[in-house]
Amino acid sequence: MQREAPNAVTEARRTAPPAPAFVPGLVRPEAVDIDELKAEGALLVDKGSDIEEAVRWITEGGRALVVGHWRDLERCRAAVLKPLKRAPANAKEAEKQRTLKKQLSDRLLGRVVQGRIALQGAPRADFLLTLYGDLFGGGRQFALPSGVLMGLANAWQYFEGGVRFPFLAPPVLSGPVRPFYGVYAYPHPVTHFEMLIEWLQNCSSRPTNALDLGTGCGVVALVLRQLAGIPDVVATDVSPNAVYGAQEEFKRHGIVGFKVLCSDLFEGLEGQRFDLVVFNPPWLPLPTPSANEPPRTVLDLGNFYSSDLFRRFFEGLPEVLNPGGRAVVLFSNHAFNRGYVHEHPLREALRDSNSSIQITQVLRRDFDIEGRRRRTGRPQVKPSLEEPAAELWEFRIPDLASTDSAKRSA
Ligand SMILES: C[S@@+](CC[C@H](N)C(=O)[O-])C[C@H]1O[C@@H](n2cnc3c(N)ncnc32)[C@H](O)[C@@H]1O
Repeated sequence: MQREAPNAVTEARRTAPPAPAFVPGLVRPEAVDIDELKAEGALLVDKGSDIEEAVRWITEGGRALVVGHWRDLERCRAAVLKPLKRAPANAKEAEKQRTLKKQLSDRLLGRVVQGRIALQGAPRADFLLTLYGDLFGGGRQFALPSGVLMGLANAWQYFEGGVRFPFLAPPVLSGPVRPFYGVYAYPHPVTHFEMLIEWLQNCSSRPTNALDLGTGCGVVALVLRQLAGIPDVVATDVSPNAVYGAQEEFKRHGIVGFKVLCSDLFEGLEGQRFDLVVFNPPWLPLPTPSANEPPRTVLDLGNFYSSDLFRRFFEGLPEVLNPGGRAVVLFSNHAFNRGYVHEHPLREALRDSNSSIQITQVLRRDFDIEGRRRRTGRPQVKPSLEEPAAELWEFRIPDLASTDSAKRSA
């Protein structure tokens, strides 16, 4: 009988590298002391426990530690979060829901022992070793909130199975991209990346160097280097996890010549100039913090942009662009569509920055909605909203010499 060839995910799992040993300096959710939980009388949820009782306990403000089966943690979490299933009507409601979800899920915990989730049937979450390796000495154990455990398990699955961007398929890249914990990496939809690739193909002159700002899992840097053939690419990110992950990723693919830097926007790049700066920033605004809100970490900046991000971007851009250089920002109408903003954040920030930067092109393209409809069987947008669209914004610093001579001749 003929054996079936392993599919790409199985193959990626088989060839996945082991989790790196402890790496100091990465951002990790705070470990909770088991003794502290015992001392406060946290409810223990074991195999025969009444899930309804656990849900009541958590909803009324108590903490519960699951000690039996992973399934109990999943069931209990689903029941606790059930009332929050409703789609939020606006940004404020979305933030309220996010806060409540985090507060509730923080009260349901599971144990971690020697780099493993110590529950029967628990999935692998090997990044535990990389993030908490310093805490496992002497058989020490601790607890982590259910949401964190699930996030770690998902991240590990993503890493092992790999993420496939269609434009980085072999021979462009030998294998899948393997994003590290806490790093933004979504292979769907890819319309904005396709727009960038077309833009690069239509470039009249090939940039000799480029900056990938907010590199995440390194996908834009890989496009710039491997597809567009730009020899000198610098990748930066404000998140140490993204920087570490991208560095490892480039090493794994044997690509040399990338400089990877942990920096907030253009920090640490003083004196360096680029022909091209590409930024695929978060597309949704980071809501203004309110009382009782869980603290933000730098990992939140993978999905949400801070209120001053684009203004600071435009203020700093002239310092890093070569004369004649261009900046490309990949964006979408998501924030506008959902009513989170009332003016386009890039336009608003450019105006507020008082900068002379010019918008030289804005390209828009609908995301592959039909593809999504086929996959999910339901429409993506309310009839009153615009279709979700990807955007590519191109900026240039006006050439002062030619502006002056134009003024003189006028
Ligand atoms: C939407 S993700 C894009 C990641 C990747 N470039 C991609 O296209 O998939 C935005 C990235 O910008 C980073 N970021 C957010 N604020 C930043 C800042 N002030 N400076 C540098 N990077 C930032 C985030 O950490 C995140 O990795």
